[in-house]
Amino acid sequence: MQAMNIDCTPTRSLRAHPERRVIDIIDQTRLPHALHWVRVSTLDEAAHAIRAMLVRGAPLIGATAAYGLAIALGDEASDAQLQSATLALWQTRPTAVNLHWALTRMSDHLSPLPPAERCAAAWVEAEAIAEEDVAQNLAIGQHGLALLRQLPWRSAQTLEVMTHCNAGWLATVDGGTALAPIYAAHDAGLPVHVWVSETRPRNQGLLTAWELAHHGVPHTLIADNAAGILMHKGRVDVVITGADRISANGDVANKVGTYLKALACADNGIPFYVAAPRSTIDFDLPDGAQIEIEARDGDEFRRVHGLDDHGVPSVLQQLPAGEAVANPAFDVTPARLVTALITERGCCTASASGLLGLYPEQARD
Ligand code: MRU
Repeated sequence: MQAMNIDCTPTRSLRAHPERRVIDIIDQTRLPHALHWVRVSTLDEAAHAIRAMLVRGAPLIGATAAYGLAIALGDEASDAQLQSATLALWQTRPTAVNLHWALTRMSDHLSPLPPAERCAAAWVEAEAIAEEDVAQNLAIGQHGLALLRQLPWRSAQTLEVMTHCNAGWLATVDGGTALAPIYAAHDAGLPVHVWVSETRPRNQGLLTAWELAHHGVPHTLIADNAAGILMHKGRVDVVITGADRISANGDVANKVGTYLKALACADNGIPFYVAAPRSTIDFDLPDGAQIEIEARDGDEFRRVHGLDDHGVPSVLQQLPAGEAVANPAFDVTPARLVTALITERGCCTASASGLLGLYPEQARD
């Protein structure tokens, strides 16, 4: 099975230990400066890991929630415990539908079982969710690679790809979504270079740069606001992002700033692709207007994290206290600006008919 590399060492973002009823996660708040693993052994720790973004990225949030539920059922697996643990995890973050998809799948699977069987069954189901994520991302990579191979290159030497946020292996169990075609292209020997936008205010672009560097993929970090000029100057062949929720009509909620990239792509005739698995598609939502956009703490904007001159992790206040800030974490890109969706079942137009063509079992009467 696919495994992304940290300097040639295959690594996943989450390690499960069912026999000890714990998982280990990477504390992504400490990247790119430190690779630090954290043990999660209680429901509260799992909920905290998602809420405080130690784990982040829609598919990884879903897998972590599934394991969090398994952990929560270790001591008691009554109906009441199943419901309250599900609710606690459900409320950790609102936008990425993978969280709710994974919890619904777990709950539907576990509820009919006798309480004595639920804990063991929960670990098996969480493992299935994690493994499916890895397999689906592998398939997304191959479908995306086929698309990339057909693109006209503006520069003769290198395929220039731009991405936003982090939709790499760190945002999934392994393999990534938006980065899966890029890794597939690189591993297949295609000369590829990635423009990585910083993604203020949480700077998930730094995670993307860290991933790409450790897998050996050429890339360059840019300020978010530099995307337009690079596109306008013909330095970008294609933009690929991930998604946190795709509504039934193909509208895409993704990290704030995605919409601006899609607009710039449209103005410059650049294809804008969105890569995501089934667990990110919300067939219950007719369009993106109804997607809840997470409003995060203004301190993410007010305070800048980094290393000081001595290499010590530090926080700087960049705004006067009391300065008003708004911090919407996601935006919605209308389906009309999306050239195609790349899923584990193949590529489709961002539309109800395109999605139902790939997922006919989701058709409603
Ligand atoms: O707030 P985050 O870091 O959890 O953001 C979610 C994301 O990682 C991105 O929006 C990503 O592009 C889609 S998830 C693979």
